[in-house]
Amino acid sequence: MERKRWYKDMVFYQIWPRSFKDGDGDGMGDLWGVLEKLDYIQSLGCDGIWFSPIYPSPGADCGYDIADYMTIAPEFGGMEAFRQVLDGLHQRGMKLIMDLVVNHTSDEHEWFQKSRQRIEPYTDYYIWRPARPDGKLPNNWDSNFEGKAWTFDPVRQEYYLHLFAVKQPDLNMDNPLVREEVKKILRHWLDMGVDGFREDVITYISKPDGLPNDHIFPIYKGMRHYNHGPRIHEYLAEFKRDVFDHYDCFTLAEAPLVWPKRALKYIHEERGQIDMMIQFQCQCADCLFTDYLPTKFSLRRMKRAFSQWQRKLSGQAWNMLYIENHDHPRIISRYGSEDFPTESGKTLAVSYLFQQGTPFLYQGQEIGMLNWRPEDPEMYEDVQSRYQYTHAALNKSPKERLERLWRCSRDSARTPVQWDSSENAGFTTGKPWFYVNPNYKQINVAAQEKDPDSLLNFYRKAIKLRKSLPVVRHGTYREYFARSGKRYVYSREMEGQRLLVVCSFSDKPMKLKMPRGFDLSKAELILQTHPTATDILQSYESRVYLWEK
Ligand code: GLC
Repeated sequence: MERKRWYKDMVFYQIWPRSFKDGDGDGMGDLWGVLEKLDYIQSLGCDGIWFSPIYPSPGADCGYDIADYMTIAPEFGGMEAFRQVLDGLHQRGMKLIMDLVVNHTSDEHEWFQKSRQRIEPYTDYYIWRPARPDGKLPNNWDSNFEGKAWTFDPVRQEYYLHLFAVKQPDLNMDNPLVREEVKKILRHWLDMGVDGFREDVITYISKPDGLPNDHIFPIYKGMRHYNHGPRIHEYLAEFKRDVFDHYDCFTLAEAPLVWPKRALKYIHEERGQIDMMIQFQCQCADCLFTDYLPTKFSLRRMKRAFSQWQRKLSGQAWNMLYIENHDHPRIISRYGSEDFPTESGKTLAVSYLFQQGTPFLYQGQEIGMLNWRPEDPEMYEDVQSRYQYTHAALNKSPKERLERLWRCSRDSARTPVQWDSSENAGFTTGKPWFYVNPNYKQINVAAQEKDPDSLLNFYRKAIKLRKSLPVVRHGTYREYFARSGKRYVYSREMEGQRLLVVCSFSDKPMKLKMPRGFDLSKAELILQTHPTATDILQSYESRVYLWEK
């Protein structure tokens, strides 16, 4: 049966639930808060929600350490609130996707507790190795978050592998019982009516036999062995065949370090095992959105990455599009300009919303929330940021290290959503679990609702336009002035419709340059960031032109 692939016509909104909206006054965002905001999300033109994890969790990695996959955490409103959100979305014709985190669990998950005591059938659910007589660790791999990837468990008297935090032991996916558990989780939520999954670091789930040392990578040692590991396609195909093929749903896989050629092995429309990928390309090549290394923003590099993905997937695969999520600092602070927040926010929106793919917006992106900058490193909550401050770049002064966090930390984008100018930005009536960015009096939803030229209303306009233009879904992509470090210009073309997107990434005015063959006198200007359009592009001005036969 031909799949409908309805996700191709949609725009999704990512909710990082702790900081979205508190509905019960305990200071933590929850599903009651989400329920209040479903109309708001729909008013943006979004057709669905991706929830970052809302399962019971001790919170060592803000929910990405799951202690029970089968229910919703009481602090988020439990199953009762979840059912109401799911129904509320479906009544509006919207979709819901859950986060599936199965590279690892929490160490407080029952499986791990039993595994460390060698209680069957859990003994081999995780990756255990005996201590070596020479006192060395089982191999030289690094964890992605804190130090080495091995921790000794005093109960089992063995080391367990954790590619992330110490409290996130990796599952042994080579064990068929573990794969059956994953399928059970998937069916549990799909049977309840969820519409798909975002699969956390799924490209890490297959580890190579023998867990060899890594003598090549200077950092993130081991990643070259376990990322896209030997049986990854086999396992994903198994999940597809046994579960996903039996439901009307889609899958979105998070893939650190992936290039389009490799991605096609996963997302090719005929041969792939999943539908879309979240690409985290590394800063050293054509990098998009990996900010742990505070390299300087390069528009050329960003364009190269965007264009590569557009060109190389064309006609073979469909991908998701994003400029923000919970793992990156805020995009205006990083790739735009805090001196021109509205203008650069609009330009960043235009730069990605007219490409081919399914766009995702991250909470607060639509009002241009900016990086949070605390004075004290102790205020950071994120396990990775805390580790980086105390262990990385130790030759730099504390002030420089703090500045690095301002720029790179995931917490920069995890402060509560700024709903209005009342106390705590209208996020909670209680004491917020995390700090509210002090700029909430200037940047908030209520103020932007009232302003027709706000970033919020611009997002609405741009999304509506995107959905009305078949060329955005079907057209070919071509980039112009690729060597420019200040302008991003691309066209989308199909029979009868031609679109040109022109974005300035400069804080200074510059001449409007049109690529050859685009006759402005015959074009309609269908979207603009500034009130007038002359032959000068103002700071961070963007325009979208349309030609129709
Ligand atoms: C993914 C998540 C991130 C999490 C990590 C470990 O990268 O997006 O937030 O910390 O995996 O689960």
